[in-house]
Amino acid sequence: MASAFRSSTALVLVFGVAVLCSVTPVQGWSKEGHILTCRIAQNLLEAGPAHAVKNLLPDYVKGDLSVLCVWPDQIRYWYKYRWTSPLHYIDTPDQACSYEYDRDCHDQHGLKDMCVDGAIQNFTSQLQHYSEGISDPRHNMTEALLFLSHFVGDIHQPMHVGFTSDEGGNTIKLRWYRHKSNLHHVWDREIILTALKEYYDKDLDLLQEDLEKNITNGLWKDDISSWTECKDLLACPHTYASESIELACKYGYEGVKSGVTLSEEYFDTRMPIVMKRIVQGGLRLAMVLNRIFSDNHADVAAT
Ligand SMILES: *[C@@H]1O[C@H](CO)[C@@H](O)[C@H](O)[C@H]1NC(C)=O
Ligand SMILES: *[C@@H]1O[C@H](CO)[C@@H](O)[C@H](O)[C@H]1NC(C)=O
Ligand SMILES: *[C@@H]1O[C@H](CO)[C@@H](O)[C@H](O)[C@H]1NC(C)=O
Repeated sequence: MASAFRSSTALVLVFGVAVLCSVTPVQGWSKEGHILTCRIAQNLLEAGPAHAVKNLLPDYVKGDLSVLCVWPDQIRYWYKYRWTSPLHYIDTPDQACSYEYDRDCHDQHGLKDMCVDGAIQNFTSQLQHYSEGISDPRHNMTEALLFLSHFVGDIHQPMHVGFTSDEGGNTIKLRWYRHKSNLHHVWDREIILTALKEYYDKDLDLLQEDLEKNITNGLWKDDISSWTECKDLLACPHTYASESIELACKYGYEGVKSGVTLSEEYFDTRMPIVMKRIVQGGLRLAMVLNRIFSDNHADVAAT
């Protein structure tokens, strides 16, 4: 189904979206993945940036960014937002297992910068201008924040930087344990749901706690500083995309063909990668937001 989403059957989608949503809308980290990334990030914001972020959120979310981190998936097939659809992923040449901005960051029609890397740069610089008090009134800064938060998550999902012909694994139909799925969806959602069921009593808060514990004094303690190192905010997403396609080749596609059944062995070996990518996304989103809204600009952002 996700492959249908990605082809240009836009009219069908506009009318069919209500029906399709009741099945499983498949894009980006699942709801759970995006919620985790955004919660981890928001908990790591410094005071000024935290204040600036809250000011951009509508009142009804009561300051909780994660509530709206899936918003870009919900609107991407609305007519007004159709331009955002290619911004969720990057198609790289089959079997190349590498990413190059000039070669790969474009939409299906070859329009440059229309990919998840270009989008992160776009919304980072929109928010930077806003923070400096020189924002373009045509741009909606609430939307820029939500897009940035969502796309930093997406660029970390390895299969979002996948091969072109299989649409990032969407056309590789397979079974996940007993039910039908596809390779893209396994990475978006199945692994997270299975982990929740097996280890966390289906409680997302417990998984979040475990991830945050492993950030501060566990598994990843020594990696944090290298993960969040970034000289140029507009160039760092290239690295995140390269990491993703390398992981997609090494762990995503590895040993997988259409029609296979994936279960315990795949789950056990891939779950750690999924968890690490969610955490990296969260840490890096916090880093980007902390830099965009660094304290000297916080007052401007609040007005
Ligand atoms: C950047 O955002 C503007 C709207 O805010 C949009 O028109 C443009 O297509 C976007 N470009 C990219 C690469 O995201
Ligand atoms: C900005 O976008 C949000 C979400 O789409 C919308 O609710 C809000 O009204 C917009 N703000 C302005 C000033 O257009
Ligand atoms: C946290 O780290 C422990 C090992 O130190 C590991 O068993 C556990 O799976 C990790 N939790 C997550 C959610 O990655």
